[in-house]
Amino acid sequence: MKRRDTRSRYVIIWLAAMLSTGLAGWLLRGPVSTALAGWGVAHVCARLGLLCFLLASALLVGGAVWWAVAHHLRRGVKYALRHWQLCRSIERALLEAGYGVPIGEQYYRLPCVKIRFDDCTFTAGLVEVQNHIKSDSSLAAVNLSSALGMYVVDAQYISDDNNYYCYEISDSRIDRQLQFDSYAALADYARKHTDKYGPYTLFCDARNEGIKIRSLLLVGITGSGKSYALMGLIAQLRNWPIAPIVYYADPKGSDIAVLGGSLAPERTADDIGGIIDLLRQFYDCMMRRKEEMQVKLSGRLGSDFTDFQLPAYIFLMDEYAAFQASISRDKKRRDEVEELMRSIVLMGRQLGFFVWIAMQKSDSGDIPTAIRDNLPLKICLGNAPATTLLTIFGRSADLPSRHWNKGQGLIFCDGITAAPRPVSFPTLAFDIFAELTQHDNLQSEGVNPEPP
Ligand SMILES: Nc1ncnc2c1ncn2[C@@H]1O[C@H](COP(=O)(O)OP(=O)(O)OP(=O)(O)O)[C@@H](O)[C@H]1O
Ligand SMILES: [Mg+2]
Repeated sequence: MKRRDTRSRYVIIWLAAMLSTGLAGWLLRGPVSTALAGWGVAHVCARLGLLCFLLASALLVGGAVWWAVAHHLRRGVKYALRHWQLCRSIERALLEAGYGVPIGEQYYRLPCVKIRFDDCTFTAGLVEVQNHIKSDSSLAAVNLSSALGMYVVDAQYISDDNNYYCYEISDSRIDRQLQFDSYAALADYARKHTDKYGPYTLFCDARNEGIKIRSLLLVGITGSGKSYALMGLIAQLRNWPIAPIVYYADPKGSDIAVLGGSLAPERTADDIGGIIDLLRQFYDCMMRRKEEMQVKLSGRLGSDFTDFQLPAYIFLMDEYAAFQASISRDKKRRDEVEELMRSIVLMGRQLGFFVWIAMQKSDSGDIPTAIRDNLPLKICLGNAPATTLLTIFGRSADLPSRHWNKGQGLIFCDGITAAPRPVSFPTLAFDIFAELTQHDNLQSEGVNPEPP
């Protein structure tokens, strides 16, 4: 038997009542009044007919008002229609998938569905489906995308009070990946971005922006765009109002080592010994900053380096797994590096010291879990296997799955995203290496001033 929503019963009753009173009104005022013309009762019939008309109109207006309120007509006709359409398809899908509490044989009481679009362009929004003790675990695993038409689920999580399952949705036809055709365009965008969100913020795409700097774990299979993404981020850093100090470590000796060698050779290393020396140097700077901040922090508890306009320090390491593999044979070195890294990750946030680690997979053999799990910003590029997703995000089942192109993947950022959601890094349609190095030569005071 076809499943039906209990509310459809009320709609049928409302429709039937409205049509029958309308019909009765027409009959009483039309044919019946004509047939009884000349009789005194004709007058009564006409009045009764008017009453029926009024009743039908009241039902019609009541229904229209209910619809307008339920679908937020005050935000515009287009908004209301889109809302109604989406509500209907989600409810139909929930019904077909067997959600809802059975009332009798055919009728089911569906969970309440709330939809909110971010703006009137309807490119993104939030769908909330009411939780019920019966559907609790099954709603967690539901794939809502199939019911959303052109929308796809970007992230799903349960609300703080556990009463609603929340699905962040976005229009799949809209490409949020930014493209810059020149360095000037990127610089202009980056400056406007820091003006809007603050001097220590980064962006990835049109949706993931205003991300305050923090330590980063960037994972992705070979060729997924990790080094490219790092170069895009370096270009952003160059346009920060307070220039950060970047250290470049690249055991593979490729893009990042070459770029660092040209931007800041004294803070670039591509051999294991050199990288460990750089790390010690970075740690010492952090300790100096700690002393400096201790004085400043007295009386201003809870402040961080941004409150004193101090520059951020970033230790950028590409191909961390290669580095880990080389140090793992020497226990003393391995322990020292692990200790340094852990201290930086744990203490660095307030002091303004961050590590950005790029690697192909993040198993515990490739990076110590104590470091990996404490990196607050996690990005996985490309079509990573479930085991990699599990090590980064702690889950793999309910993550949005797409065919990711170069520079696209998932982001999870403590305090910004409620659950991992899609991200893309800008496409740089110009010679990034030439532009970065050339720009550095033009500016005596570039992104990498000498560390104090
Ligand atoms: N956001 C992007 N937009 C357009 N093309 C990109 C993007 N990211 C990466 N690519 C393309 O993919 C190529 C490979 O990227 P990249 O060298 O960054 O990969 P990788 O993840 O660092 O690989 P490996 O692990 O082997 O070092 C780049 O040379 C570039 O052509
Ligand atoms: Mg690379």
